[in-house]
Amino acid sequence: MCGIIGYCGPRKASDVLLTGLKRLEYRGYDSSGISVGSAEGLQIYKKEGKIQVLRDTVPESLEGNWGIGHTRWATHGGVSDVNAHPHCSCDGKIAICHNGIIENYMSLKDRLEGEGHRFLADTDSEVIAHLVESFYEGNLEAAVKLSVSLLKGTYGILVMHSDHPDEIIGARNGSPMVLGLGDGEMFIASDVSAMIAHTKQVVYFEDGEVVRLDSGGYEVTDMRNRPVDKTVDSISWELEEMEKGAYSHFMLKEIHEQIESIPRAMGGRIDEDLATAVLGGLNMSEMELLGVKRIVIIAAGTSYYAGRVAAYLLESLARIPSVTELASELRYRNPIVEEGTLYFAMSQSGETLDTLMAVRELQRKGARVLGICNVVGSTIARESDGGVYIHSGPEIAVASTKAFTSQLTAMYLFLLKMARMRHMAWPEGKRFIAGLTGLQPGIKKILENEDGIRKLAKKYHKARDFLFLGRGVNFPVAMEGALKLKEVAYIHAEGYSAAEIKHGPIALINELTPSLLIVPDDHLRDKVLSNMKEIKARKGPVIALCVEGDDEAAQIADDVFFVPKSDELFSPFLMVVPLQLFAYYCALELGRDVDQPRNLAKSVTVE
Ligand code: AGP
Repeated sequence: MCGIIGYCGPRKASDVLLTGLKRLEYRGYDSSGISVGSAEGLQIYKKEGKIQVLRDTVPESLEGNWGIGHTRWATHGGVSDVNAHPHCSCDGKIAICHNGIIENYMSLKDRLEGEGHRFLADTDSEVIAHLVESFYEGNLEAAVKLSVSLLKGTYGILVMHSDHPDEIIGARNGSPMVLGLGDGEMFIASDVSAMIAHTKQVVYFEDGEVVRLDSGGYEVTDMRNRPVDKTVDSISWELEEMEKGAYSHFMLKEIHEQIESIPRAMGGRIDEDLATAVLGGLNMSEMELLGVKRIVIIAAGTSYYAGRVAAYLLESLARIPSVTELASELRYRNPIVEEGTLYFAMSQSGETLDTLMAVRELQRKGARVLGICNVVGSTIARESDGGVYIHSGPEIAVASTKAFTSQLTAMYLFLLKMARMRHMAWPEGKRFIAGLTGLQPGIKKILENEDGIRKLAKKYHKARDFLFLGRGVNFPVAMEGALKLKEVAYIHAEGYSAAEIKHGPIALINELTPSLLIVPDDHLRDKVLSNMKEIKARKGPVIALCVEGDDEAAQIADDVFFVPKSDELFSPFLMVVPLQLFAYYCALELGRDVDQPRNLAKSVTVE
């Protein structure tokens, strides 16, 4: 979590830093700060609250052409002005910003305090400023290298020194960092969104690399001072994609973007003639794909639920045993990596630490791990052995929406390929493609009817608890619906298999606890209707999400939202959109901070 940015160049550094921090705000938004260097030394401003609070504090007159900035998602130490970054050395000459967690900060702090260093804040990060100060003998880069060699944990660090004008040192281990190359200016940040307004030429760093930059250039070296050759990449995202446009919130914009983002994920990846998918990025031959005996998808949060949908279908259609596992759990349970098992790491950001660490653990054991990522050049995308970019465009709202359906699209394509290599015949493949490519009108119709969802939100937003129930391929969709409601509306919600409620959760049912049931027209529909009746019999209010024409479901439920009819295989796409809208409108009714819900951050780069 946390976002960092640095700038060296001819512009007013405070403007570049504050604008960049605004774009990084999704990474953490409990406090922020900047340090700007000028002939007078380092000027530091830091404030608890959103970037706007900092913006209101920084004087217009602040001069200086190089500096660093930070937006925080607190891990160690409460949210306060003093705990906000940048942190300073005792002499006030060194300022640092840090994204990550320093696990051994207590022992380092004891040592440094013993040497006379005075600490002001209650964070792990402050030790870095004092460590650099303790090693500094005129060469800032050397002092940073000596310092980071003592750190245990994860970091993306930016360091500046008042005696080194126009110079920033960056170091990375486990936290993302990217350099932006301008014309006579340099940017460095946690991700490209902070610099896309200025440059599209970027250089990504690997763990263990240290960069020294100034307005005229940069040098990258490893910890043994060996130069590292870097390639320059181009960013394909446009600045407008990172703006809200006419929408009141990014979340609503991104829900609506699914009309385009789902087809975009299929672009150039379907072979109509052969009724299969073309996924060159997998880096696997047909023979290798044929040899896959088992699939394991690892992910967190929304990506995990997308993975659950994919595993369900891979098993039932491609007939390959498949499971999805929480990356955070897999990593620590010493998983057995068997020959013939193919792993997928699913991550919108491509930076989720739990997922990244699980990827590395699996690779250490010899596994082949493919990435399903949105952010091009992200760490998981770069470290995986191949994969598929979902191309959903930048997802800014903390609550993931369009990435979910794009992840599904990518996995449906993979599923088609694997199924066609096994049991799926050409006509079935054609039908599958028709279903997948024909989703757009259905989603459009749901969005045109979103007022129906808004009315449901008006009626139900005061509920304190909610059950989201689904079966089969829509069980993970129910869990995703519950997650959305929790994170943006702060309403407690449980996502369950409708069949499971009789084993416990039905005890929660009363007049005050609504249940939202997903009722696609599939082989489990009648079972879900029975569950619905069981809830009604206990006076539980019921919302049914069912397909057009399902009058029976509509009669049992108190309220209903109809989605267009589709092949049951594709129902997760159509069922999840109303759930996203429901969470959004409940949050709106409750006056929540929809795009930046409390306690959360978009990119979870800590354990
Ligand atoms: C979803 O709305 C979340 N905010 C969160 O659960 C997210 O999906 C999770 O942190 C995983 O992120 P990733 O896809 O970037 O790895």
